[in-house]
Amino acid sequence: MSKEQRIQRYTAPERINHWIVAFCFVFAAISGLGFFFPSFNWLMNIFGTLQLARILHPFVGVLMFAAFMLMFLRYWKENLFNREDWVWAKNILKIITNHEVGDTGRYNLGQKCVFWAAIISLLLLLVSGVVIWRPYFAPVFPIPLIRIALLVHSLAAVGLIIVIMVHIYAALWIKGTITAMVEGWVPAAWAKLHHPRWYREVREKQQENKP
Ligand code: HEM
Repeated sequence: MSKEQRIQRYTAPERINHWIVAFCFVFAAISGLGFFFPSFNWLMNIFGTLQLARILHPFVGVLMFAAFMLMFLRYWKENLFNREDWVWAKNILKIITNHEVGDTGRYNLGQKCVFWAAIISLLLLLVSGVVIWRPYFAPVFPIPLIRIALLVHSLAAVGLIIVIMVHIYAALWIKGTITAMVEGWVPAAWAKLHHPRWYREVREKQQENKP
């Protein structure tokens, strides 16, 4: 594909940042499911041994949170809800059947929901995770609070796993999306179809910067 037919969507540091979050998520989610269900205990082997899984899971979780905060600071403005999101929501049946509606900017309502659900669940996971983190922090908290934190931690984890499954499905299902996070660019036709307002903004900037 020629350079004119591509548009840069993410720089290399942005992609590295995203994949650090994604890898941490996979390790934390798989080991976490291993702690939770006896029949899934074998999943803890993802860290080599069960003991290592128990030690490393919280550290990987904190790394995921810190890396996601960088993404949050980068993208929060582009994920604020606006009037176009109503058009998207009202036409959800068309969206599901692969049609586009409205003058969508850099992110559509579905992506924005993933973004806000991720930050809310990660905040809940971090706070509840600190409360239940033995042997470092848990001893300073009362047992009833630890029980509540365990419940919050489990519910937030299940919520995030479902949200990320939807995110991965969309990233792979919408043709032309995955190159955005792998190689950094998207086909211009993809941008024009799925994110027309963002496409115009990028093209206008390119015109301004032409000598
Ligand atoms: C594990 C496999 C994953 C895959 C295959 C994947 C794929 C992608 C792709 C292709 C994009 C670009 C979409 C676009 O720009 O239109 C993207 C963006 C993004 N991803 Fe992922 N991702 C994964 C995991 C995660 C995880 C675990 C998180 C957070 C906990 C996450 C958060 C985000 C965010 C915040 C964006 C930017 C979109 C926005 O701000 O709304 N991703 N991902």
